[in-house]
Amino acid sequence: MTRQSLLLPLLFLLTAAALPAQPTTNVPAGAPRLERRGQVLQMVVDGKPFLMLAGELNNSSSSSLRYMQPEWAQLAALGLNTVLTPVSWELVEPEEGRYDFTLVDGLLQQARREHLHLVLLWLAAWKNGMSSYPPVWVKQDPARFPRVMLNGAVVEVLSPMAPATAEADGRALAALTAHLKTTDTEHTVLMLQVENEVGILGASRDHSPAAERAFAGPVPAELLRHLAAHRGMLNAELRALWEGNGARTSGTWTEVFGDPADTTRADEIFMAWQYARYVQTVAARAKGAYALPLYVNAWLGNEKEKPGDFPSGGPKPRVMDVWKAAGSSMDLYSPDLYSPDVRGWCALYHRPENALFIPETNGGAQAAANVFFAVGEHAALGFSPFAIDAGLHAEAADAAAGNLPSMEAMVRGRAELSTSYKLLAAMMPELLAAEEKGEIHGFVLDKTHSSFDFAMGDLIAHVSLDEIFGNRAQSGYGLILATGPNAFLGAGKGFRVSFTAGGGTQVGLASVEEGTYEEGKWTPGRRLNGDEDDQGRAWRFDQRGAKAEKVVLYRTK
Ligand code: DGJ
Repeated sequence: MTRQSLLLPLLFLLTAAALPAQPTTNVPAGAPRLERRGQVLQMVVDGKPFLMLAGELNNSSSSSLRYMQPEWAQLAALGLNTVLTPVSWELVEPEEGRYDFTLVDGLLQQARREHLHLVLLWLAAWKNGMSSYPPVWVKQDPARFPRVMLNGAVVEVLSPMAPATAEADGRALAALTAHLKTTDTEHTVLMLQVENEVGILGASRDHSPAAERAFAGPVPAELLRHLAAHRGMLNAELRALWEGNGARTSGTWTEVFGDPADTTRADEIFMAWQYARYVQTVAARAKGAYALPLYVNAWLGNEKEKPGDFPSGGPKPRVMDVWKAAGSSMDLYSPDLYSPDVRGWCALYHRPENALFIPETNGGAQAAANVFFAVGEHAALGFSPFAIDAGLHAEAADAAAGNLPSMEAMVRGRAELSTSYKLLAAMMPELLAAEEKGEIHGFVLDKTHSSFDFAMGDLIAHVSLDEIFGNRAQSGYGLILATGPNAFLGAGKGFRVSFTAGGGTQVGLASVEEGTYEEGKWTPGRRLNGDEDDQGRAWRFDQRGAKAEKVVLYRTK
């Protein structure tokens, strides 16, 4: 049981003043933007808040309009409203200075037919730490576009300490955003991801002569000034490292950020600064042409891994403040969340000034559950399982190969995700309104996390695994939100809720009603009582499948 969630609203109020100002230039009317509404940042499109119920395509799918043609309708049928779609530098600028947006235009057109929004992934200087996506004219000119050195060898990875590369990359992305500004008047594109999972793999830092010189030199004063000015809000791990060395305001990277027990820590911070400077430069160019929201994503690795096992310098929580010190063109820092520790990582990425957006994560049944937690507990702007189109092909291939059990599991997982997405889409107006007021909580329950308490107004909501006549659910998930002082809307499965109030007040169930949304309007189904509300003791969501219910409470002294 946790009471951490009781503290979050207070943290928001205390730190609201620190939120970044939203850009107001280069934003045509109605264009997508991130806006602070009440206690949260929300994506606002055409003046309305919007929750991105998304999925990310496989890396190569969107390189072919023909390949994508049949996909969109299936993605829409699954319940997605947004598709994360790669756009690569090599295809946009095959020859230097000659831009080709035919593919981009085609993707937008295809998506629009299914009323889908897009988040474009700018695969450019780096993807997964490597440099396979730059155009050939960049790859074959290492004198102009220098590379990093690892273990004594120059490798096929572009250096972030390269103004010419940042200039070329930024110019290309700015050409894309300028093109979108004039052609995407329907606001199909909501946001852009700049690069993908940047960082050095295979070593904790670059060892090229330029990197060696910079690493032996002083930490830039602007970085240290930023740390000092934001000391109270820094990521705890970064703050401990910096303060452990005396919170120095000058010195070399090792003097300021060295950890005698782990030399990779200073290396990681050094690389974070180099990548951040590059990516902020590219982002500033893009924003100058059209101020769409921008984010950068991180490969997280696991707790046993060191920088270099995961891309060293990528925007993990412990270097997020280093990235922020390097510029303010990036709106969001986002986790590619494949770790089982969904709670831990969401808590680290959801900061008062950094809304949670999950661009990549596991799909199927796990996604069906986790989306409720991310949206309900962390006001996620969006949620996006990776390889969302893989299932469609794999199902067909499995079926053809007669591989029925794995096909069935995949179909079941996708159906479960689809149910979650469709429920959340139907609830979107109530859900986003509750987020603004901070009157919403989301959860995933299992044997080890079988109950949570949430403060909701002057009540405490006790959420636990559902149980009836000794039959206890193994798992459950959902969210609950307040629609009035004694009224709540909930969705999910396998959980139950009871409410308590202080001061000797007793709280009972006045009514529990299940329902569906028909053309956006709540349409009541059964009135739930008896076994279905445990004889008035609990607002129950059984294990059968996620659904929506409304409860009204009464109070007596
Ligand atoms: C994370 C990357 O960001 C994706 O593009 C893709 O390569 C996946 N890993 C593969 O699982």
